[in-house]
Formats: sequence, structure tokens, C-alpha cells
Amino acid sequence: MTEPLLDVAGLRVAFPSEKGFVAVVDGVSFTVGREIVALVGESGSGKSMTGRAVMGLLPDRARITADRLCFEGRDLTRIGPREWRGLRGNGLGLILQDPKYSLNPALRIGRQVEESLFLHTRLPAAQRRARAISMLEKVGLPDPEWVYRSRPGALSGGMGQRVMIAAMLINEPRLLIADEATSALDRDLQVQVLDLMRSLTREMGMGLLLISHDLQQVADYADRVLVMRGGRIVDQIAAKNLGRSENSYTSALWRARPSARTYGTKLPVIDREEGRR
Ligand SMILES: Nc1ncnc2c1ncn2[C@@H]1O[C@H](COP(=O)(O)OP(=O)(O)OP(=O)(O)O)[C@@H](O)[C@H]1O
Ligand SMILES: [Mg+2]
Repeated sequence: MTEPLLDVAGLRVAFPSEKGFVAVVDGVSFTVGREIVALVGESGSGKSMTGRAVMGLLPDRARITADRLCFEGRDLTRIGPREWRGLRGNGLGLILQDPKYSLNPALRIGRQVEESLFLHTRLPAAQRRARAISMLEKVGLPDPEWVYRSRPGALSGGMGQRVMIAAMLINEPRLLIADEATSALDRDLQVQVLDLMRSLTREMGMGLLLISHDLQQVADYADRVLVMRGGRIVDQIAAKNLGRSENSYTSALWRARPSARTYGTKLPVIDREEGRR
């Protein structure tokens, strides 16, 4: 097997509290290769903090330690701000749920979608523009030329989210972390965007860490699933077997997955005792 893109061992993220540091990610180990790995778990289980730790985007107060945190063999715990800038939006991409916090309202969409090409490549302006417009089209935006010229305020939330996804994919990251990236979109659009992310994963040999609370979606799109609970990974399973896990916590989550009726709501908190064996 080739070396994984991302290799994480013993990752710990802790926040200060009155009782000293409290770990919200508590010794997590996993790898991501050129595949789709899903991270699932209840609200507060530490999924986003795990993703942010990999991106070097934790809040200042957080304390991070790891036995190993490597991207393409580079130790991420040892790189400085300049190297981070070289990695983010280039080798490593992150898509968050809410484009309101990720897009700059003052700047035209085109400029924001092209930014990583501007920063990390020497492509001339005309080619950057052509790539941006074709990417806006790929994420299913109607009239990409108009979107290119518009500012974020002119777009709906769903369109803004697709713009974010276009901005992250345009420079073909080797690893993309999608933290509930499609949760705010309606069902049809989720399918469209996930299909796109999956085909790019396959075509470009990208790795995708898909953070999601939607177990059905994960079963449909991921290769492997990591189940988090209370800051730890409690189960690892092939996505196609997600509905047949022998782990009682995973099967409780599976049974609690939203139906078409409750779609869009967060996972309920599973009874604390139920998950124990
Ligand atoms: N800035 C912070 N200071 C202290 N604790 C924090 C901070 N941010 C998050 N936490 C705590 O870290 C824990 C893990 O949070 P995280 O955001 O990773 O959960 P999550 O699994 O992504 O949940 P969700 O499904 O709701 O997005 C939570 O208990 C949360 O309260
Ligand atoms: Mg989260």
C-alpha cells in the first residue's frame, strides 16, 4: 500500500477550563488515503475539532498534541505560518457548512474562486477566469458568467455553498476536508455536490475526509467510516457495512439516522448507557 495522504496518531485537542485542560479530542488515530473517509458522531463528539486540527485552524486557546500528524509525510505540528499558507487552499482544502463565514461579502465571486490559483499558480488571468467559470458550472451553478461577476450578497445560501466548493476544488487539493459541507443544501443539491466530490476524488486521486452527521449519506458515499464519541474513535467500519456494525453505539446511531421526514435535523443524543457494551 502506498503511504497515506494523512496520518494521524494520538491526536489530542484540549481547552482550558476551571478544572484544568479538558480534552475534546482524546487520542484519535486514523489515516486517509486516496479515498473517502467519513467521520460521524453525535453533536459535540469532536469531529470538527479533529478536522480543524488537521488544517491548523484551531482556536488560539486550544492546546494540540499528537504522536503523529503528517500530511504527505510532512509533520504538521512543526510547520510555521508561511508553510501553512502554502498548504491551505493548495494541497489541503477545507469546506465548512456556512458560506456566510467563508466568503468575503465585499469581493466578487470570481476573484474568490480564483484566489488559490492566484496564490499558488502562475496561470495568466484569462486562464484563471476560464477555470473558475468552468468550475462554477461543474458545481451546478446556473449562469456561471453572471455568478463570476456577482458579489456573495446576490446569491442564495445554497449557491454560496456551491461557490465555496468550487473555490476549494479549483486548485485540485490532494486532501479535502468537508465539514458538513452539504448539510445546509436541499437533498437534490446534496446529491449533486457529493457526486461531484466523489468523482473528483476518483479522477484526481484526491483524499476526502467527509465530516457528517448523516449516516445514510455516509453509507452511500464513503469508503470507510470512523465513528467518534466523546473525543474518541469508537468504531471503524467499511461504509457498505455501516448498517450491520457489531458495535452497539454505531448501530444505535444507525437506527437513529434521520428518515426522509426528519431529514435535516441533527442526530438525537443517544442514551449514554445504550452505547456501552
Ligand atoms: N472554543 C471552544 N472552547 C471550549 N470548548 C469548545 C470550543 N469549541 C468547541 N468546544 C467543545 O469541543 C467539543 C467538540 O466540538 P466539535 O465542534 O468538534 O463537535 P462536533 O462533533 O463537530 O459537533 P457538531 O456535530 O455539532 O458539529 C464540544 O464539546 C464543544 O463544546
Ligand atoms: Mg462540527
